[in-house]
Amino acid sequence: LDVEKNHSVVSEFFLLGLTSSWEIQIFLFLFFTVFYVASMLGNILIMLTIISDHHLHSLMYFLLANLSFIDTGVSSIATPKMIYDLFRKHKVISLKGCIAQMFFIHTVGGTEMVLLIVMACDRYIAICKPLHYLNIMSLRMCISFVATAWTIGLIHSVAQLAFVVNLPFCGPNKMESFYCDFPRFIKLVCTDTYRLEFLVAANSGLISTGTFFILIVSYVFILVTVRKHSSGGSSKALSTLTAHITVVVFFFGPCIICYVWPFPTLPIDKFLAIFSVIITPFMNPVIYTFRNKDMKVAMERLFLRALSIRQNSFSPSPRNSDSS
Ligand SMILES: *[C@@H]1O[C@H](CO)[C@@H](O)[C@H](O)[C@H]1NC(C)=O
Repeated sequence: LDVEKNHSVVSEFFLLGLTSSWEIQIFLFLFFTVFYVASMLGNILIMLTIISDHHLHSLMYFLLANLSFIDTGVSSIATPKMIYDLFRKHKVISLKGCIAQMFFIHTVGGTEMVLLIVMACDRYIAICKPLHYLNIMSLRMCISFVATAWTIGLIHSVAQLAFVVNLPFCGPNKMESFYCDFPRFIKLVCTDTYRLEFLVAANSGLISTGTFFILIVSYVFILVTVRKHSSGGSSKALSTLTAHITVVVFFFGPCIICYVWPFPTLPIDKFLAIFSVIITPFMNPVIYTFRNKDMKVAMERLFLRALSIRQNSFSPSPRNSDSS
């Protein structure tokens, strides 16, 4: 028999999940379900509001809608399976499923990082170079920014996956996590993993650390400019910026620890992933959108419109009977 072919005997992995304690699992079930449903509803509401309201057809809001679209992806890749798995004794995932998860997580995650940079640049130009804003940030630019973000996300993901798709697995097939990702995945490969670890640190580690610093620097620039030009608005700007920085730390902190931590894997990093995968997609709408006055007004308009359509279709109003 062909020994080479049988080398890869592992065709599925056991995800050990976060904990084996029954009480904590019930808590996690409620926690994940609430956050997942809330972030899906919030992000879908944002997309509907922005697409349906022509007052919001500007670059900033299109970027926000795209961020919401990406966030529905981020939260849907691993969370539903994890919620489903919580009460299963054997949490299995096939090799193909595992690779698919890594592909989608990194494509969407890479895209989100680039999009966050674009959004920070957009705010920077709007606040610090307002006279040039309309010249630089046109709607055409927006489409090319979004296309660039997806291209970079895709390249980032494929560049890592290309090295691992054909690797042999022979040893243990248990992963101490609730979804597949490179750092734990490559630990299970039979061959020498040192170069692979370096590759992941150089790719995922670099993109998350780089984005983190670019975002922090751009926020500091914006804050300094706002403080110089206005005294009244600076406390509001400060609170908005603090909120942004909190989200950025929540999202990037776990990524950086997960991909560039040079020492043996930390036991808490499987919990840290919850922040990137579940909490940030929920926080983004809260931070970027629900604090925004124009968005709130537009959502009210959308609700009123939906309400009036409902009333018209359920109870024929006098106006309807007049016209018929
Ligand atoms: C993303 O941005 C483009 C414009 O650049 C816009 O046409 C599109 O509707 C946005 N996507 C979503 C889901 O809103």
